[in-house]
Amino acid sequence: MTSFLEVVDLVKHFPGVKANDGVNLTLHKGEVHSILGENGAGKSTLMKLIYGLYQPDSGEIRLEGKPVKFHSPRDAIRAGIGMVHQHFMLIPALTVADNIVLGDEPGGITYKRAEAEKKVRELSEKYRLEVDPSAKVEQLSVGLQQRVEILKALYRKAKVLILDEPTAVLTPQETEELFSVVRHLKSQGIPVLFISHKLDEVRAIADRVTVMRAGKTVETLPIGDATPQQLANLMVGREVVLRVEKTKANPGEVILDVQQLRVNDTARREKVRNVSFQIRAGEIFGIAGIDGNGQTELVDAIAGLLPIVGGRLRFLGRDITRLSTAERTKAGIAYVPQDRQLDGLVLDFTLTENAILRDFKRKPFSKGGILFHKPAKTYAERLINLFDVRPRDVNRHAGDLSGGNQQKVILAREVSREPHLLIAVQPTRGLDVGAIEGIHKQLLRLRDEGKAILLVSLELDEILSLSDRIGVIHSGEMVGIVPGESATREQLGLLMTGVTNGEATEVTTR
Ligand SMILES: Nc1ncnc2c1ncn2[C@@H]1O[C@H](COP(=O)(O)OP(=O)(O)O)[C@@H](O)[C@H]1O
Ligand SMILES: [Mg+2]
Repeated sequence: MTSFLEVVDLVKHFPGVKANDGVNLTLHKGEVHSILGENGAGKSTLMKLIYGLYQPDSGEIRLEGKPVKFHSPRDAIRAGIGMVHQHFMLIPALTVADNIVLGDEPGGITYKRAEAEKKVRELSEKYRLEVDPSAKVEQLSVGLQQRVEILKALYRKAKVLILDEPTAVLTPQETEELFSVVRHLKSQGIPVLFISHKLDEVRAIADRVTVMRAGKTVETLPIGDATPQQLANLMVGREVVLRVEKTKANPGEVILDVQQLRVNDTARREKVRNVSFQIRAGEIFGIAGIDGNGQTELVDAIAGLLPIVGGRLRFLGRDITRLSTAERTKAGIAYVPQDRQLDGLVLDFTLTENAILRDFKRKPFSKGGILFHKPAKTYAERLINLFDVRPRDVNRHAGDLSGGNQQKVILAREVSREPHLLIAVQPTRGLDVGAIEGIHKQLLRLRDEGKAILLVSLELDEILSLSDRIGVIHSGEMVGIVPGESATREQLGLLMTGVTNGEATEVTTR
């Protein structure tokens, strides 16, 4: 194979960090090459150097053997580099075709929309990136917007495509679709640099993988030669426990009893239909399902954030169907929400302030409207030690912490209130392997202490490795409840698409 793009000893400093510290990379023609590394490893910096958004302090980038210097993305694009950023850069009010040709319109001053749409249609057929050229971008799903970004790069005649954490925003289905797009691009001779911190993804799509850690490229391997364990260790720089080690559950009394629950979303569409299940003390009940099948509404209703339109909810034997969120919290239900930055933490507050966010009105933190700082600080310090939050400094603002550590702060806060039931929605979304390991350990510790845990996750592996029982939700219905021990990906995958026994042979999952 001939090399298409080469990066030699690239160095890039930011004040106080060596974001890239001697990076070496060779991208072959016709390969999908993954850059795997934890958050902060320097992946995005490397991509921005290649794309001309940053200039290196030293080192060299070579394209088809020749050294190149990009002063801006414009130079990089002209040289055939295409990139889709972690955050899309589209104009929502414009159509797909407008967005794609923007800055490079056919017809020059007299913009010809019909022509633009035709070109976009041709491009989308050639690369099998189906999307309606006349649709407004704001009406498209995230997955489709990503397609528009890819088309935009291809329209500019990209000879290589850089995708920076492209699946972070996608559902499992959309991820599969993206993978087929990437495979097709490869077959059309366009190599892809695929950035990710997810092991299983990299193993599914890459031909070769380069692992980055702390600004350095530590190793490049053909994907067939790399075991998940080896890759995880390279990423983290130490031996990582990939398989969650857990003992058999020892379930006690029924904590939560959900009977024939019906819930509508805020637009009054029926989202949960007659769902029933129980969770006992000392067990993790996982809910598996494709995003948007009612799991959000179900947990929101249990937490009291959405009204229950039918059925009953019992908690420790008591009917809580009509209780407010605050009353449920008081009764012993804790909630770790999906969007930690939106509902979980106040980013401009210190860790101490965040730790007492729900309790600052009561003893020992305040009395008669006066806040006592000392007990709050002591309390926060205990929490961050117990949950291994880094850095161990309660005066830091929550916004300064990495995602994994923010998540630990929320878990710590919720758990320290000694709830009987902990609801955790996507608790490790977007986190590194190291941080995931930490969160999983804490959830299992809680289970072993006799708490009931309701876990909702779109990651099947997470559901499978943690849950004692798994409820599968499809189209608002609980289509099956299976023991965690014997459940398989295939079985869950089928249930998730609504295939229950009998017709199960029709569908294949990967
Ligand atoms: N524009 C910037 N200014 C200052 N520091 C930055 C900037 N971009 C990235 N960094 C720092 O460089 C390091 C690598 O970041 P990044 O390349 O974004 O990592 P990754 O994409 O692997 O998560 C991090 O410590 C990050 O905080
Ligand atoms: Mg990044």
